Amino acid sequence: MADIKAFIFDLDGVIVFTDKFHYLAWKQMADSMGIYFDEEINHRLRGVSRMASLEIILERYEGEPLSEEKKEELAAYKNSIYVELLRSMTPEDCSQEVRDTLDELRRRGYKLAIGSSSKNAPIILEQLEMGDYFDAVSDGNNITKSKPDPEVFVKAAEFLGLPPEECLVVEDAEAGIDAGNGGGMQTAAIGDAVNCGKGTYNLTTFADLLDICK
Ligand code: BG6
Ligand code: MG
Repeated sequence: MADIKAFIFDLDGVIVFTDKFHYLAWKQMADSMGIYFDEEINHRLRGVSRMASLEIILERYEGEPLSEEKKEELAAYKNSIYVELLRSMTPEDCSQEVRDTLDELRRRGYKLAIGSSSKNAPIILEQLEMGDYFDAVSDGNNITKSKPDPEVFVKAAEFLGLPPEECLVVEDAEAGIDAGNGGGMQTAAIGDAVNCGKGTYNLTTFADLLDICK
């Protein structure tokens, strides 16, 4: 395997936990339409783009077919609630373990990037006061295909000026591990993604990254 020169981190579920906000916002949207929605369905939305998430939620919709315009309106409604919730985040929402690990990786000379499906990545990073921390940010605003397509990570590697095989993707969703593997990167699974068994490495805790690259 090639030597790792950079880390590309998924944002939601790796650097910060926004699941609860996604849940509350989608729940409010679903309730407004009389659609059943629960934590289990929310779980299926990890790593999935906003519009693809809406389609998953609409599997439980039983009314008249919805126009594309109406779907855009529902997604925008959810997003307005979600952004409002994101505004309550503070730098403390990124754990000390994550911050210390990132600082140590940087001290060891690695480049650090974000690879997120979210169009709200800039807002989240701003709330964490990490807007200028990463060497590159590839997110939902610069891609046309969401994970499991590799595009978001391929772009991150491009932004860093490195070949994919010298990058290690850190992910908490199976779709993200598939995206990293598909893009020719090495992958480290954390949290739920460990269960898919497809990561090059499995992490028990974020700081385990320091053992992969001594
Ligand atoms: C991913 C989340 O990071 O971003 C998904 O895991 C979310 O749950 C996706 O749907 C898109 O997010 P946003 O902020 O663009 O609606
Ligand atoms: Mg994630």
